[in-house]
Amino acid sequence: MKKTLLLMTAVALMAVGCTEKRDADELRAEKLMAKMTLAEKIGQLSQFVPKNSIVTGPDGSPVDVKNVIKEGMCGSMLNVWSPKEIIEYQKLAVDSSRLGIPILFGHDIIHGCRTTFPENIGISCSWDPAMTEEVARISAAEATAFGLAWTFSPMCDVAIDPRWGRVSEGSGEDPYLSGQLSAAMVRGYQGDDLSAGNTLLSCVKHFAAYSAAEAGRDYNTVDMSEMMFRERHLPSYKAAIDAGALSVMSSFNDFDGIPASGNKWLLTDLLRGELGFKGFVVSDYCSINEMINHRVVADKKEAAELALNAGLNMDMVDGDYYKFAEELVREGRVSEAQIDRLCKDILTVKFKLGLFDDPFRYGGEGRWEKETWLPEYLETARKVARSSMVLLKNEGEVLPLKGSERIALIGPAADSRSEMTGTWVGFADYNKPVSFFEGLKARFPHNDIKCEKGCDFFDPIEGGISKAVAAARGADVVLMTLGLPNAYSGEAASMANIDIPSAQKELFKAVKATGKPIVILLVTGRPMTIAEESDAVAGLLVTWHPGIMGGTALADIVSGDYNPSGRLTMTFPLSLGQVPIHYNAKSTGRPRKTPTNNAKYVSRYMRTPNEPLFAFGEGLSYTEFAYSDLEVLNPEAKLGETVKVRVKVSNVGKRDGEEVAQLYIRDVIGSRTRPDRELKGFKKISLKAGESATVDFDITPESRSFFRADKTWGEEAGDFDVFIGHDSHASLKGIFTIAK
Ligand code: NOJ
Repeated sequence: MKKTLLLMTAVALMAVGCTEKRDADELRAEKLMAKMTLAEKIGQLSQFVPKNSIVTGPDGSPVDVKNVIKEGMCGSMLNVWSPKEIIEYQKLAVDSSRLGIPILFGHDIIHGCRTTFPENIGISCSWDPAMTEEVARISAAEATAFGLAWTFSPMCDVAIDPRWGRVSEGSGEDPYLSGQLSAAMVRGYQGDDLSAGNTLLSCVKHFAAYSAAEAGRDYNTVDMSEMMFRERHLPSYKAAIDAGALSVMSSFNDFDGIPASGNKWLLTDLLRGELGFKGFVVSDYCSINEMINHRVVADKKEAAELALNAGLNMDMVDGDYYKFAEELVREGRVSEAQIDRLCKDILTVKFKLGLFDDPFRYGGEGRWEKETWLPEYLETARKVARSSMVLLKNEGEVLPLKGSERIALIGPAADSRSEMTGTWVGFADYNKPVSFFEGLKARFPHNDIKCEKGCDFFDPIEGGISKAVAAARGADVVLMTLGLPNAYSGEAASMANIDIPSAQKELFKAVKATGKPIVILLVTGRPMTIAEESDAVAGLLVTWHPGIMGGTALADIVSGDYNPSGRLTMTFPLSLGQVPIHYNAKSTGRPRKTPTNNAKYVSRYMRTPNEPLFAFGEGLSYTEFAYSDLEVLNPEAKLGETVKVRVKVSNVGKRDGEEVAQLYIRDVIGSRTRPDRELKGFKKISLKAGESATVDFDITPESRSFFRADKTWGEEAGDFDVFIGHDSHASLKGIFTIAK
């Protein structure tokens, strides 16, 4: 008897222990699944768009969504464009389907929702994880007020090719910086409590290596070594997953010859096995069907089979799971256990979101009107916009303006509200932003400010140039917008020419001929080849597409109310032929060593420098910063130990300002070739004129790790250089050694 009791207690304790280890939401999902038919489980794996909705891909809905919801076969929806409709669809699911499982509503909330922030590449130029987190928090607050529970963000793709339009949605060319900012976005969206009702499920995309599309052409094939993948691309996705993101989107491209949406190595072995991802994977729009075009499957049914077996949980829009998954199970081509696994991942996340406790907790009566465009959100948008703008040239201190100048504001974006917003702003009101002209007028009410468009982005306007020239002649300074419109950023916006369009070049030449000092305001979502224009002017400020408060932010900078602090996160090439060009390149066997070495057999171009126009990390301020006293506190460390480095940063100019102290390391000798230098730390600090600060950095074993010759990830013993300074040219150097 005693023995039996003991045994029973032990079994009970084991069960409790076991239960505690298992996630409570996973258990709830399992319990629910015990009541579900195979068809209903498959239903959870399908995401649809409403009939006739504005689409964000080539196809609309393949099914009659309302019927599918009633059948209990619609797990998720995207692109529902009104809070009211969300409630209607949710009611249908809860009241009319057999088990009443709530729908998960997703959308692309990319750089703000109703309050638009700068495009993501702009946000990244603020080098400010806390601010980036705040952007995501506000985006989540607004999106949930609409009724959404899920955003397809952050885009963690690290990009080195400005021809690829989607560079606007990412955080630039550096894996470490992109990882830091992507993780910040995940924290901002998801908060501490995913079920809070004002936090959003975040989605890490596009898994994987989507940004490496050959020749920068969107959707193009990707081919790269495992080393390149693990060193340049994986760290950013990993950082976002480690920050707790519970969904991932598979990318459009093939990866090592297998399209990502059918790539078991990517979606199961790497993502779940190695990275320990616990959420669910959604395909990118129609990417399951598109495996037919990739020519790895013959038809939609085979496409569904490949994706299901690869571990892809949710089918975005295609309807292939809906149509073929049950048959595939019956035919033994996909196991029921696999469907169970895929379904459980999705239901577990739905439980975490609190959808079962209250399917209507997102959205609700009047929230959209009451909880968006709040004054504090707009103020944050202004702060983000001004810290995202990058001052690249400021000869003769043309900026800030002294105060009483007559200003000519010229160019296609000079008085455009809509061109402030950038790409992926489905919830924006294009008429709401503050245009550059409006921002300047508000800040300089007593100045003579003339505004002339001069031309459209790509086309001349009749009489436009002469009006612009007249405005320039009557001014003391010309602020001139050049660049590209919103639609030339983002998805399906690749360009084989990233020069200033010819209509704008003509306008520029005419205005330049007036001899007035010019400051270019570069409105763009990507680096452009602007050497000719940049050489010809006194000032150059990259404004990006700065979001709803763009004009106010510009006025803050131009007036000197704010001291510019943005730093480039992507290299600006001197000429397109240099692309891909990035700061963390390798030395090669025949390095050029100096920019003027014109010897024959070295790695260089004939008649074009190797150096870009503007390098990673560059950006000016109205003050000057100096770096000194670099000290490696433990220069003789061992494998597994953190190296501590310290530097003094001083504001040696006349204005208060913010500086981004950047730390780069160079692994002197590695078992594989190593980049010339790699960013491994940064700190944004605020210094009053004349003030100094000590900045500390940790160089961890992980930050020294790479894909070694034996194909393992880890660090190696040996010598390192460390550079700290203002940008990727930083020359203040220290050394340390890692012993075995
Ligand atoms: C395609 C895009 O690649 C992806 O980023 C987006 O989230 C989906 N469409 C949904 O709109």
